[in-house]
Amino acid sequence: MAAATTKLLLSDLASTVESFTSNYIRPISDRPNLTEVQISDGSIPHIDLHVLDLIKQIGQACQHDGFFQVKNHGIPETIINNMLSIAGAFFKLPESERLKSYSDDPSKSKRLSTSFNVNTEKEVVAEYCTSVRGLELKLLEAISESLGLQRDYIDKALGKHGQHMALNYCPPCPQPDLTYGLPGHTDPNLITVLLQDDVPRLQVLRTGKWFPVSPIPNTFIVNIGDQMQVLSNDLYKSVLHRALVNCDKERISIPTFYCPSPDAVIAPAKDLIDERHLAV
Ligand code: OGA
Ligand code: NI
Repeated sequence: MAAATTKLLLSDLASTVESFTSNYIRPISDRPNLTEVQISDGSIPHIDLHVLDLIKQIGQACQHDGFFQVKNHGIPETIINNMLSIAGAFFKLPESERLKSYSDDPSKSKRLSTSFNVNTEKEVVAEYCTSVRGLELKLLEAISESLGLQRDYIDKALGKHGQHMALNYCPPCPQPDLTYGLPGHTDPNLITVLLQDDVPRLQVLRTGKWFPVSPIPNTFIVNIGDQMQVLSNDLYKSVLHRALVNCDKERISIPTFYCPSPDAVIAPAKDLIDERHLAV
């Protein structure tokens, strides 16, 4: 089991309402354009892990949407809520405490190190990581099957795969139209399992428009990353997404990224290549 990595964003370290300085203001050509954002939920597919045609539903979501939300995932609500509370408590610590866990060395495995209840926190985080790992393995099996591959195909293709967890914190921001929590990007890894709190700020690009993904308690958001797009020979989509900031509320989100072992070679699955589907 890979250890979790707690990545702290620079935006967190420097950020309070007062310090919303010009560093964070995006050029006019690269702002969220809030008036253009679609009002309705982007109808990202909701998938119940208990449904009978799970494989078909997952396949369609990966192919058409690149994003889906999972409920009935079997991870107890207390594990989820405890993880969100610990993340919240962490960001309330004084900056000097938080800086103790800061590193810009991506190879370093970090653990949450704080001045209070360290053991409880370690347990809570470990329990969360183990549970999400279990969910990821179920998802990878379902995704393999949905591609018509052996259930364990993706798991095997990855070698000893890694799990990196980030804690993203966005402070309230007086001018949400001038900046982002996270600018538009695709995830470079295989799949990402995101836990977000109840502040709606995540948006997904669909048919050229940004749609909000409304938070639903006790639900994970899963998205296909670039490496899965390659492995599926371009059938499954790694789509652009971004997070905005909110005027009056802080937001915490906890993505867990799954990555192949550093020596694994990710290529289109051979069974997905034929004369009509050349390798990407
Ligand atoms: C990411 C990401 C979304 C969010 O960290 O790659 O897309 O809501 N996060 O934090
Ligand atoms: Ni992302």
